[in-house]
Amino acid sequence: MTRRGPLVVTIDGPAGVGKSTVASRLASRLGWAYLDTGAMYRAVTWAALNKGADLDRPEAVMEVIERTAFACEADGETMRVRVDGVDVSEAIRDPQLTGRVRQVASMPAVRERLVAMQRAFAARQGRIVTEGRDQGTVAFPEAVCKFFLTAAVEERARRRQEQLAQAGRSVSREQLREDIERRDASDCQRTVGPLRPAPDALGVDTTDLTADQVVDVMVEQVRARVSPD
Ligand code: DC
Repeated sequence: MTRRGPLVVTIDGPAGVGKSTVASRLASRLGWAYLDTGAMYRAVTWAALNKGADLDRPEAVMEVIERTAFACEADGETMRVRVDGVDVSEAIRDPQLTGRVRQVASMPAVRERLVAMQRAFAARQGRIVTEGRDQGTVAFPEAVCKFFLTAAVEERARRRQEQLAQAGRSVSREQLREDIERRDASDCQRTVGPLRPAPDALGVDTTDLTADQVVDVMVEQVRARVSPD
C-alpha cells in the first residue's frame, strides 16, 4: 500500500522529561525536520502580550494570530522562532512568560489554529519529528511512530535545576518540584488537547536514561517502521 501524506514521528509528555533534546537529536539522526510546538504556544503568547492583547479574551488572541507573521527554523539542537521578523527565541523562555502560556494554550480556537499550522508544516516538510502534548492524539493521529515520555518528578526537578544553574539562576529543588506538579495537573486537566498518551504510543521512562540512550531506542523503532530512501 502506498502511503499518502507526510511521515510524522510524535513525541509527547509533560514538562521536563527531555522532549526537546531528544526530539531535535532524533530529527537530526533521521535527517527529518524538527518542530517544537511548545515554542509555537510561547510565540503566540509573546505576540499577544507585546501587542497589548487581553489574555482573558480568546477573540483578542485570535486576532493577534491572524495579524502576525510567525516563522520557525532549525538552529542546531533548537528551533529559532521569529515574530514579525523579530527573533524571540530567548524571550519566549522567560519564566514570567512561561506562566502565561498556559492560559493561551487552553483556548480551543487557538489550539485549533496552531494544530492547522502544525499540519501545514508537516505537509511542507514531508518528514518531521514533532514534540508537544497533543501531537500523537490530536494533531497527528496517523503518525507512523508515537512516543510518550515520562520521568520521575524528582528527576525532572533535578534536570530543571541543572538547566537553570547553567543559565546562572538558582531555584530550590522543592520549588521546582511544586511547579512541575502544578503544570502536570493543568496540562492533564485541560479539556482541549489534554496531555495523555495516544493508545498506540510507545511509553519511554527516561528517568535513568541519557538523552542519547532515549534517541537510540527511538531510532530503532522508527527504522523498524519506515524504510530508508
Ligand atoms: O513544552 P513547553 O514548556 O515549551 O510548552 C509551553 C506551554 O505550551 C505549556 O504550557 C504546555 C503548552 N503546550 C500545549 O498545550 N500543547 C502543545 N502541543 C505544546 C505545548
